[in-house]
Order: sequence, then structure tokens, then C-alpha cells
Amino acid sequence: MKYGFFDDQAREYVITRPDTPLPWINYLGNEGFFSLVSNTGGGYSFYKDAKLQRITRFRYNNVPVDEGGRLFYICDGDTVWSPAFRPAMTPLDHYRCRHGLGYSVFEGRKNGVRAELTVTVPLHTDMEVQKLVLQNDSSETKALNVYGCVEWCLWNAVDDAQNFQRNFNIGEVEIEGSTVYHKTEYRERRDHYAFYSVNAPLSGMDTDRDAFLGQFRGFSSPKAVEERTSYGSVASGWAPVASLRIDLTLAPGERKVLIFRLGYVKNPADQKFAAPGIINKKRAYELISAFETEEQFDAAMAELKDYWASLLSRFTVKSSEEKLDRMVNIWNQYQCMVTFNMSRSASYYESGTGRGMGFRDSCQDLLGFVHLIPERARERIIDIASIQFEDGSTYHQYQPLTKRGNADIGSGFNDDPLWLVACTAAYVRETGDFTILDVPTPFNNVPGSEKPLLTHLRRSIQYTLSHRGPHRLPLIGRADWNDCLNLNCFSNEPGESFQTVSNFESGKAESVFIAGMFVKYGREYAELVRRIGLSDEADEVLRAVDDMEDAVLRNGWDGEWFLRAYDAFERPVGSHLNEEGQIYIEPQGFCVMAGIGGEEYGRKALSSTEARLGNDYGIEILTPCYTEYHDYLGEVSSYPPGYKENGSVFCHNNPWVLLAYCRLKDGNAAFDLYTRNAPAYIEDKSEIHRTEPYCYSQTIAGRSAKNYGEAKNSWLTGTAAWTFVAASQGILGIRPDYDGLIVDPCLPDHMDQLTVTRLFRGTRYEITVKRGPDKGMRTDGKPVAGHIVPLTDKETVKVEVTI
Ligand code: BGC
Repeated sequence: MKYGFFDDQAREYVITRPDTPLPWINYLGNEGFFSLVSNTGGGYSFYKDAKLQRITRFRYNNVPVDEGGRLFYICDGDTVWSPAFRPAMTPLDHYRCRHGLGYSVFEGRKNGVRAELTVTVPLHTDMEVQKLVLQNDSSETKALNVYGCVEWCLWNAVDDAQNFQRNFNIGEVEIEGSTVYHKTEYRERRDHYAFYSVNAPLSGMDTDRDAFLGQFRGFSSPKAVEERTSYGSVASGWAPVASLRIDLTLAPGERKVLIFRLGYVKNPADQKFAAPGIINKKRAYELISAFETEEQFDAAMAELKDYWASLLSRFTVKSSEEKLDRMVNIWNQYQCMVTFNMSRSASYYESGTGRGMGFRDSCQDLLGFVHLIPERARERIIDIASIQFEDGSTYHQYQPLTKRGNADIGSGFNDDPLWLVACTAAYVRETGDFTILDVPTPFNNVPGSEKPLLTHLRRSIQYTLSHRGPHRLPLIGRADWNDCLNLNCFSNEPGESFQTVSNFESGKAESVFIAGMFVKYGREYAELVRRIGLSDEADEVLRAVDDMEDAVLRNGWDGEWFLRAYDAFERPVGSHLNEEGQIYIEPQGFCVMAGIGGEEYGRKALSSTEARLGNDYGIEILTPCYTEYHDYLGEVSSYPPGYKENGSVFCHNNPWVLLAYCRLKDGNAAFDLYTRNAPAYIEDKSEIHRTEPYCYSQTIAGRSAKNYGEAKNSWLTGTAAWTFVAASQGILGIRPDYDGLIVDPCLPDHMDQLTVTRLFRGTRYEITVKRGPDKGMRTDGKPVAGHIVPLTDKETVKVEVTI
């Protein structure tokens, strides 16, 4: 069953009823100011860091779920309603939520009044702007009381949710004209404030939440709204809000527009105050006046749409598969931008208060983002590398605001270093910019420790090679990609972190997955350094790669598939010898992608993978699921069967198998796997899948779970980047490379032809692929041998490929 439909022309998903199985959200903002917005107007905003600079409050796991956010009330006679259905929840005569790229539109209609609420964070603006259009379609004059309200978060979202002995004393606001300024803690230490403002004279306002709501009430029925009034309350401690009331009349056919602005301002230390205790509002005035009128708002929306159109025009496909095109051209790339911006920090499931930016996560996110804005990718690579330690190991996470490594979680995730090689090589192939390798980059952010980025990559390679176990395979450390395979942890204390406790450092537990990574990215490293003239180093690394491949073939092959690991006692994990967890997906995808054991091993591994791990929604992470906890395996065995790392379809690693199929030129299997969990392909199972049908989720419950097919943790997942790589570089076969653009599609039999446009190093490649007897490639009419379209200065190149 569906709850809406895709409007590809507008690049929107249109939700046609408010009661989606879960809040279906969208992301606004690209740089500093970010907002999450659900299909009923819920969500929260923050500036750069969802923990430290939270602007509006959000209660995770609240009942009712997703309460709060953008609180609009329209009072028309006896009826109070909200354009986004919530908070008032009065049934609407018409409801639509259109989630677009960087904006959302809510259309509500009730008793002859039409409301259209558009929310967006305009480009280069530290502000969410909300345009509310009201139109009287009835034949009588309407006298309306309109309220727009937000609830402030007292900045640090963790303190805000726990330190009440302090919090209930510190809330402060200033009110001036039609603006409420939230200035809690704006004293000596804090130099930022937020504001909520409307472009019309106020009929009334409240800034004390409890006064506005009244006793025993929630946001669905504030007392002030019920009484069609405002109390003029001024918050002093407790919970500050900004409730702005505008009374207006609409003659039949009349239309009025209100513009609400939720902004963030940081002042220079010496310009904080306009007068003692009074904040300097100069910057706020500038922001507000930039969005006084509908024309200004519409111009910003047009700019935003152009921005996305131009970004997305860098890669477009037109094929016989409408859903593939929709994912590749719009939603998958959009999600890549969101994961690039957020890593795993802020969603409805990632609270923004725990994990900052993940090292491995951010490196992988770059793979699906680098073609969009290479300059930002470059900056990110340097930020990430700056939390690496001198020995090549690295902090696992960093805080987006400070960019410092997160000491609580520490280091020791032994796959991390190699991901830096992966994203840097991808960046250089995309841009040809080898100068990034020379950028002086500190270790652990220590000034004076800077070494060229290349040294960081070299240390990554060396770290892997110098940390190997009894089977010559890389030591796993606290965990590899699978955060829950904790082979050195042995935790028996409830509440202990599986990732940070290490009470049995065996120095023996090994990962076949990291070995696969090393073979793949070791080769990529060798290629990279060969191109800057370091052939001896390249040869040396390739010898190490061969040795690793040999170690995998001798010690990492179980007979029908690749083993997953060796535990602390040197026992195999992911083997037919195990009772449970006999086969894991990760090494099958990665070792085959890396070409280990060639076609023969590849085919065997993938057919075992499909036979044992395949389900309706993709490939499960392991099988049989663990039915008991084993301290020598860690968190993986702590989840109920079928969930998360214990046997769900962990979507992130499905594209590895897809790419492995492409490596074996099996276009049918690759495409079939793609369609099993690509959101657009399973849109009509939304009541089972439950999360948004326009973005990937982290997991889909496996066959052993009670709720088989139900997805969880939508939006912030490495699935976005990897599926974009899998679809664009695997199925469509368009791969950026050092000397040109590779065009080598791996299509399913039913796809006879397609066209792709790809902007690459300043040239627009217009690529046509079709089937036919004269196999080969032509560029601008001339035959070219092989699969590489050589680099050129031309603005446009036509490429015709016959397969
Ligand atoms: C983490 C990833 C990890 C994955 C599998 C995610 O929650 O962000 O870094 O690879 O889980 O355990």
C-alpha cells in the first residue's frame, strides 16, 4: 500500500495522508543551519551541531510521537486546524505534504480556507523561512486568528533533556516588534541567539510555554488558542517559546501571505550587546529584512531549485526503468547530500546528541557525494584525516563543531584507516586533483604534526600490514565495518559499551573483511602512488596485496564462501563449522569486489550468498541468526534474531554484493538485487516497510524477525553512497578514472538501451548505450578501443556504446 506518490517532474514525493506508518521526514539546509521536517510539520533545527547548538526542542521517543516542531494554528469560527494536520489534528478537507529537495510544502484546506505552508532553509542563510499563504475560497468573509509557534531548546540538547535543576532557571527572551529573541545563556560565555519573527504586526504573543498551553494540555490544544487570545507572557526560566498571533480577515477570494523566520545569529565577542543586557540584533535585522516579502521568498525558492537542478544534472540517466531513473536522478543523490552533511549525527533515530561524524562513515559517504561538490569533499577528507594518529590508527568519530576526535569512543576499529584510502582515491579519480596528496594535514589535530595527506594514506596501509594475526589476516581490533562483531570484548556487564570495553585484548582475532578491503584499496593506493612517480612503493604495496590475497585464499575460504573472521581463540567465525552465524555477507561482497580467487571463487561465494542469505528485500547480513549471546562474539549476538547486525538486511552492504555481481558481469543478478530494496521499487509495500519510500533505511528486518520486512533507522546510512556507486558505476558502468571516463555497463537482459549524461572534469558526456551486433564504443562518431573515453578539453562529447 502507498501513502503518496512520486512527482518526478517537480522532484517531489507527495504524501496524501497524514497517518504515514512513521513520521516521513525531509532535511532542510546544506551548510550551517539545518532543519528536519516531518510530513505533519514536526522536527527540529540546529546550527552546525545537533548536540551543542540545538535551536528547537525535540523529544525523541515521545508519546505521541513527533510532537512539536512547527506549530501553526488557524482559528476559523469554532474550528482550529493546522495546515500540516498537526498539531491541531482537526481532520482536513484536503491534505498534502510535498517533500522536495531542501524544502517541504504542506497544503491544508478546511471550511473554504486554503493554506499552503512552504518551509525551507534558503541557500547561504542561517534561517528557516516559512511562507504561509492563506486564501479564502468561500463566499463569506473570514476572520481568522493565526498562530505560529516554536519551542526553544536551551542549546545543548543533552543538558536540555536532563539538567533541570539548572534549566528551569535560565530561559530568557527579548521581545521587539514582531520578533521573539531566544537569548538563554547569552551572557559572558555564549555569543549566539535565535529568533522567531513574522512579517506582520502581532495581535498578541506568548513566550512562556506553560502560560501558552495552560495546565494539563499539550501542543494539540493550547489554552491560548482555544481562547483565541494571547497572554503576553514573558518567559523567565522554565520553557521559553515564541508564539506569534496574527488576526486577519479574508474577503471572499482574498489571499494573504505571512512569512515566518526562524533564525540563528552568532555575534563577534566585542559586539555582543547593544546596551547592557540587550543583545545586538543587527545581524537578525539583516536576515529578517532579506525575507520580508513573498517575492524575496519565491526568489530564494527559485534559487534553491536551480541549485539542485544544476547539481543533479551532473549525473542523469534515462532508461526503460522509471524507478531506477527516479532513484538515480533524484532521491539517491539527494540522500547522498544528506548523509554527507549529517554523517550519522541527526535524524529521527540518530539523536544528534551521541555520535558525531564517523570516520569510516564519512569516508564512505564521500563515495556517493564527490561528483556533486568536489570542493567540499576535498575539505572533508582533510578534516577526517586530521583525526588520524601518527601510527595510522584513528579516532572513530569527531564532533562536527570542534572537528576534534571523540575520546569517549576512542580508536581501534581496524578497518577505519583503509577507508581514507578509498575516499581519497575516489576524489582524485573524480577530479584529477593530485595536489590534495600534498596538503599538510595534522595527526590528532596537533599543531606542528602536519604531514602531507599522502603520508596519512601510507600510514593507513602500514597500520593494516603491521597489525596482522596468526593467519596473516588483519587484526580486527574493537570491530571492523560491523561495529557489533566485537571479538576482543567479552562483556558480561549490562550497559557496558561493546565498542569501548576491551577486557581481553587477544591480539589474535582477525578479519577476513579487512583483508578484502586491503586487497581492493591496497591496489587503489598502488595505482595512486604510481601515478605520482612512486613506482617502487607501488610495487611493494602490490606485493603486500598479493600476500594478503594468498592469506585469504589459504585461511579465509570456507569451501563454499569466504569466512568472516577468526575469534580471540583462533576459531573461525562465519564458517559451516559454526552452529549459527555460518555465513556473513561482508566478506562475500568485498572479497569478490576485490577479485580474490577470481571468477571461480567469486561465483561460488555469490551463489552461496544468494542461496543462504537472500530474502525478498535483499541479502541478510548473516545466517543462521544467533539465538544466544556469546561474549566471544559481542554485540552481534545480543540482538534478537533478524534485527540489526544479527540477521537483518543491513542495507549498507547489499550494494557490495551488487558490485560483486557486476565484477562477474552478472547484470541480471545485480539488477534483481537492486530492485529488492531500492525505495522506489518497494513503495507499494509501505505499510510493511514503514519508513519513507524515497530514501534508504539502515536495516530491514530479516526472515527470523517477527516483523519481517519492516525497515528501521531511515536516512543516515552508508547505503545512500554505496547504492549510488552501485547503480551509477556498477549497473550503468560509468566510472571516473585517472585517464578518462570508463563506460562499461552491466545491464539486466531486459534493458535494451539507455542514455546517461555525466559531467566529468568539465566535460559533459552524453552517453548512449544500446544492444547490437557491432559491439564497441564510439566517441563523437569515432571508434575507440576498450572502455575508457579519454579526457578531453571539449565541452561536450557524444559517446555511443553497443553492448
Ligand atoms: C555504523 C557504521 C557501521 C554499521 C554496521 C552503523 O550504525 O554507523 O559505521 O559500519 O553500523 O555495524
